This record gives sequence, structure tokens and C-alpha cells, in this order.
Amino acid sequence: MSLPDPALVVLVGASGSGKSTWAASRYRADEVVSSDALRGVVGSGEHDLDASADAFSLLEQVVAARLGRRLTTVVDTLGTDPARRRGWRDAARAVGLPAVAVFLDTPAGVCRSRNAARDRPVPSRVLTSQLASVAATVDLLEAEGWQVVRVATDERAATGDAAESARASTSPAQHEDLRGVVLQLSRFPAEGDLLAWLRDMAGAAEEAGLAGLALMDHLIQIPQVGRAWDPIPEPWVTLGALAASTSRLQLGTLVTPVTFRAPGITAKAVATLSALTGGRAFVGVGAGWWEREHTAYGLGFPSARARLDALEQGIETMKALWAPGTKPYAGRRVSLPETTSYPRPVGDIPVIVGGGGDRTLRIAARLGDGCNVPSDEAGLAKVARYLALVAETGRDRSTVHATVLDLPLVGRDRDDVWSRVERHRGPTAAAAFAARHHAGTSTEHAARLAGLADLGVTTAFVAPVGLDGPDDVLALAPLATAFG
Ligand code: CTP
Ligand code: MG
Repeated sequence: MSLPDPALVVLVGASGSGKSTWAASRYRADEVVSSDALRGVVGSGEHDLDASADAFSLLEQVVAARLGRRLTTVVDTLGTDPARRRGWRDAARAVGLPAVAVFLDTPAGVCRSRNAARDRPVPSRVLTSQLASVAATVDLLEAEGWQVVRVATDERAATGDAAESARASTSPAQHEDLRGVVLQLSRFPAEGDLLAWLRDMAGAAEEAGLAGLALMDHLIQIPQVGRAWDPIPEPWVTLGALAASTSRLQLGTLVTPVTFRAPGITAKAVATLSALTGGRAFVGVGAGWWEREHTAYGLGFPSARARLDALEQGIETMKALWAPGTKPYAGRRVSLPETTSYPRPVGDIPVIVGGGGDRTLRIAARLGDGCNVPSDEAGLAKVARYLALVAETGRDRSTVHATVLDLPLVGRDRDDVWSRVERHRGPTAAAAFAARHHAGTSTEHAARLAGLADLGVTTAFVAPVGLDGPDDVLALAPLATAFG
């Protein structure tokens, strides 16, 4: 991250968010003016609140003197006092220095656990109110004329597991977003240890260098995949378990129907998953299509039009709840008296909209962060349509996820490919089945996916035919680099 220099840099963050640590790693000690340090100078110690007034009057003097000399000045306070901020910004402006606000976007839970570990923690309710005023402050910064820089804390570093964090940051297979191949698990063993099986599959996906792991969100196993009595676990609970056994994979659903849960409840689950994983959560959303599972579980199944309306409202609600601040939200379709949702997600949560109808694609382009369509010819035409719609909205194509659902049949060699076709084709003619699933070796699939990347596809959600165990996942390793 390169910031203007010289500059006025004002830190904004709650206790334990890492302001002083951030400042010390980038600036000379003399460039940082800290209210805590000055309490130590004029009071009994950094936490001597009785010395606050003296400490702040010194702080103002130091800031004014340094800015007057056009010296880089880093102001290390909570950053939530608007009048002080205005004064510092005006002083910087008067001498032509850029004014930067650095927001330490550290999850509340991390601030709390760091605070609890301190010799003199601030009381929990004080920290709560700090977190609220920081969130409210962030909403004001841009309008106040600050150049806002957001610093996210790495959750793994925050937990103090340095070895894990080093491993994660040096591994060539590290993935930071959804670009690449995401393993879609749709079939689950009926017997044995489900959690152990899931862990093995996720472990193999990490080892193969895949970008993520996605689960279907259905209440009854769908006929396209299996029998109604085949197990299909609740995805958000299951992803919570996988959060604990993975360190790199993006985790999410493909897709969660808006008809299942009120969108605020889904937003809460996804934000929690994001906080638990250091920002590895995504959510696929769709209008829902299978009436049977709705009826069976006592859920309404309104008209397609009403479901698409609900999809729009759902995306807007989730994004409102994830945004910084707790202020009232009044959008086009949704109004909320407040948007208080903690823990905060770590970074942005991609919302991938599933479905290929034209209204769905427009919703994906306007409100979501990506689309998901089948990887066949008709689906690829929709990718092109989606990207055109994204361009029409004026959004940058490189910020969205054009994703496809791909159901490959992967074999070790030509013989293995063909014996798998025979095993899985059911009543379908072998040639038709092979064509539908692009039956081939992993090298052949890698070349095919690279061709999709050339068409603008960023991500393939891959649900291999006959996926049984970790070896089938490891066989996907050659596909992992198809998207560059
Ligand atoms: N810390 C950490 N990893 C980071 C940043 C900080 O482990 N990336 C730890 C620090 O070592 C410290 C604690 O978190 O023990 C709080 O960080 P600090 O920089 O002191 O937070 P501040 O925002 O300055 O807190 P305060 O407002 O209370 O001064
Ligand atoms: Mg500090």
C-alpha cells in the first residue's frame, strides 16, 4: 500500500484494532503522535484517563507544529471526534498536505479478544461503544474530504498462529478470491463419519490448489443428483464446520434460495462465516425453483415474479447489513431503521446470483457481484450477455465474477474415461452422456476451461460426475491453474 508522503494520516479504529502496531510498522516513532503515549508523558501511564485533557492539548500542539513544517504526521487516537478531525484536516489543507484517514477494519471479535488479553483492558461496554462510533465515523470520512484507506487485519495473524499464517502466505496454491476452480459438493455419503469425509474432501481441494468449496442449498436431495432420501446437509452449518478445517478455500453456497430464509438471517450467517474464516465467505443466491422442498418444509413458494422481487430485496438487504456503520438504510426496495450487524464481515463478500433468465442476469449485473450459469453453449452466451450488462451499468468487469457450473467426467486416461462413462451413464446413450459431461482426462479439461477463461469466465464451479473421495478431488489439480 503506498500512501502520499508527506501527508497527514489520521488513524480510525477501536481499541485493539491495531492502530499503533500499523503506525509503528510504517512510520518513524517521531512521526506518530499518540494520545495514549502523551497520557504516559503527562500522566501516570498510557491509561491514565485523568490526564486526557492535558494529553490532547499537547497532541494538538504537536500536530499543529509538525503540519506547519509540512512534516508527515500520523495521529494515533480513536479518530472518532469529528471536531478534532476537522481541525487536523483544515491544518493539513492550509499547507497543501494530503489528508488520509486510515480505517483499521478489524473484526469486532478480534478487537475484543486482543483487548481481553491486555493488562488493562478497556471495559467491554466501552469497547462496544467505540466500535459503534468507529463504524459511524467511517460513513462520514469520504464526505469530510478524506482519502479513505481501509486496512483489513488478517484473522490468522490475529489469532497468533504465526506458523499457519506464514504457511498460508507462502504456499503457491494460495487463493484470495473466487477466481479459479471451486469444488461443488452435491452428493454426500449416507453412512460413516460425515464430518471426517467433508474434512478429507476439503483437505484434498486445498492440496489440489482449488479456489474454494461450494455446497448446494436444498432441503431435499434434488432429482438431478440423487434420491430424495440421500443425505443433503444444511449448508451454512456444514460450512461452519469446514471453516475450522480449512485455511485457504473460499467457502459458500451455490445457491441459497431467497425463499428459504429471511435475507437478514442469511446475511448474518454469511457475515459470521466471513469472520470465522478471515474473509473466505461468499454467497450464491437464487430465486428458488423446486416447489416440492418448499411445500415439504412449510415454506411459501410465490410466483416467479415475486421470487425475483424477493431476490432483489434480499441482495439489497444483505449488502446494507454488511456495510460499515449502523445508520438507517433507505434503498430502492428496502428500508431498515438501523443496520447493526456484528461481527462484521472481513472484506467484501461476493454475492453470486444463480440463474440464466434475463431478469436474473440483470439483477446479477446491477446488484450482485457475479452470475452463475451452466457451462454449455447456451450458458456461455449468457456469460457474454452478463458481461455486456455489467459494462452497461458502468461497473468494471474485472471486479465481477462470471461463473459457470461445470459437471465434468474426469478420468485418468482414455480407458478410465470410457469405463466411467459406462458406469455413470444410466439409460443415456454413451456418446450423448460423454458429450454432456465433456468426458476426458484432467489435461483435456484444463485446456477446455482455459478456453472458457478466454471467453471471460472467471470461475468454474466444478461438480465432477461420480465424485466419491479425496482421490477424485486431487485429480482436479491440473484444472486449478486454467484461470491463470
Ligand atoms: N496486533 C496483532 N496483529 C496485528 C495488529 C495488532 O496481533 N496485525 C496486536 C498488538 O500486538 C497488540 C494488540 O493487537 O497487542 C492491539 O494492537 P494495537 O496496535 O496496540 O491496537 P490499537 O488500535 O493501537 O489499540 P488502542 O486504541 O487501545 O491503543
Ligand atoms: Mg494504540
